[in-house]
Amino acid sequence: MTSSIEARFERLDGLRRAALEGGGPERLAAQHARGKLTARERVELLLDPGSFEELDAFVTHRCIDFGMSEKKVLGDGVITGHGTVHGRRVFVFSQDFTVFGGSLSGAYAKKICKVMDLALKVGAPVIGLNDSGGARIQEGVESLGGYADIFLRNTLASGVVPQISAILGPCAGGAVYSPAITDFVAMVEDTSYMYVTGPSVVKTVTHEEVSHEDLGGPWVHARTSGVAHFVRPDDAACLALVRDLLAYLPQNNAEDPPRRACEDPADRADAALDRLVPADPTRPYDMLDVVRHVVDDGAFLEVAQHHAQNMVVGFARLGGRPVGIVGNQPNHLSGVLDIKASIKAARFVRFCDCFNIPLVTFVDVPGFLPGTDQEFGGIIKHGAKLLYAYCEATVPKLTVITRKAYGGAYDVMASKHIRGDLNYAWPSAEIAVMGAKGAVEIIFRGEIARAKDREAEAARLTRDYEDKFCNPYEAAALGYLDAVIYPRETRARLIGGLSMLETKRDRNPPKKHGNIPL
Ligand code: HXC
Repeated sequence: MTSSIEARFERLDGLRRAALEGGGPERLAAQHARGKLTARERVELLLDPGSFEELDAFVTHRCIDFGMSEKKVLGDGVITGHGTVHGRRVFVFSQDFTVFGGSLSGAYAKKICKVMDLALKVGAPVIGLNDSGGARIQEGVESLGGYADIFLRNTLASGVVPQISAILGPCAGGAVYSPAITDFVAMVEDTSYMYVTGPSVVKTVTHEEVSHEDLGGPWVHARTSGVAHFVRPDDAACLALVRDLLAYLPQNNAEDPPRRACEDPADRADAALDRLVPADPTRPYDMLDVVRHVVDDGAFLEVAQHHAQNMVVGFARLGGRPVGIVGNQPNHLSGVLDIKASIKAARFVRFCDCFNIPLVTFVDVPGFLPGTDQEFGGIIKHGAKLLYAYCEATVPKLTVITRKAYGGAYDVMASKHIRGDLNYAWPSAEIAVMGAKGAVEIIFRGEIARAKDREAEAARLTRDYEDKFCNPYEAAALGYLDAVIYPRETRARLIGGLSMLETKRDRNPPKKHGNIPL
């Protein structure tokens, strides 16, 4: 009897060892030779040491066509389970390129769906580590169905638990739509790419010759398409980023984001802030300097750093509380609102609102970008996305106008009128329908035309207009600003405001869902 028990355990041990082998030593070595980590190494790096609990390690595919019944690998090309990051539970799937190119079979999809279902039940983030040749070609529609099962779960989990995708190899065809639905996409230089149709199909259809890298490499998606929110040089750096990002996020939409002890004094008055905005209103400055001087320890995790750089978004902490920062960037296109910047910020605002992360908005915006490109491209509907996102958001909203807040962009950027909770302005703020020169040319056209010295008259009227509107005091007199503050007071005011707003309750009218202008 004893020996048969031992035999049972030996069988289990043997299967466990086999499940660890993936596609075998040669393929694992090839994975390393490409500068990539293996699927298991990635899981180990992502999670706290020793915390991984694997599920479904013995699952195999059920395909019998094309000689597939002879080719079975335990786990079937994806490692799934759960573990902890900074001591908090996360669910993970890690695609194993060494097994059938990481391609997705019906059984493989079921493994992913199982961890997604569990994550939703227990309220924990889902991290997908993607490295796959796409649909398992031998399985046909079963594989397509498997993808659809995942897309459905990505959608149902959206706004309930955070979902993060790391792209650590190929991600092609319809497979891209799972990462696209998740909240954040991180890519790795040199080894990752994402596209709906690859270079050879592109060549057949449009006669364009383009490389994998130029079609769907990380920089294309980080700079141009905006699909990727982060690029890191290698797998290890990418997984470290996912860990950093998770530290700002709650486990689910019913929790508050995790607070941390903070050594940086709440009342730290940073005198450098007082000199940050140049005296000349046409001169640029770096909004990132403002952010870093204000937030805890100057630590800012910028999201989509290389896309629509006229808008800055990312995570920081104030008094130990995670916040979502949104800021116009005067250093790039004068911080103007255009299509890309509106979409980038709208998605970020909605993410923060889903997950109870207060929004802190720094405003220096000359308005919306004029021109046929923008109008034909639909700046009306894309700008409306940002407006809609801010209007809809019920998290604490704190706003600091550092300089310009002109026209419709004033309304859009978390103004008092769209439920800004605390709206501050620095003395350098200019809040008006439009810039002084343009305004004077329109409203005083007659006076200027009749004046003996037209130039002098225009200059005098411009000065008058500037005195009246190019300051924060008109808005403060109307209560549209809660206070005009010294820049150095910003940190203390924001931390005090967040503390006051901790118990904020606000809700939107009951509805199935709104109809954001997509
Ligand atoms: C089955 C696949 C596979 C796939 C790769 N393999 N992709 N097996 N289904 N989709 C297998 C290969 O046969 C090979 O097996 C091993 O994985 C490694 O692949 P290689 O081609 O040797 O690797 P590499 O040269 O690095 O090229 C990687 C690749 C290429 C660019 C991903 O494999 C490729 O183009 N694969 C097909 C991609 C594709 O067209 N997928 C379908 C996309 S459509 P052996 O045993 O020879 O080593 C799609 C639809 C999803 O995914 C729809 C969702 C709605």
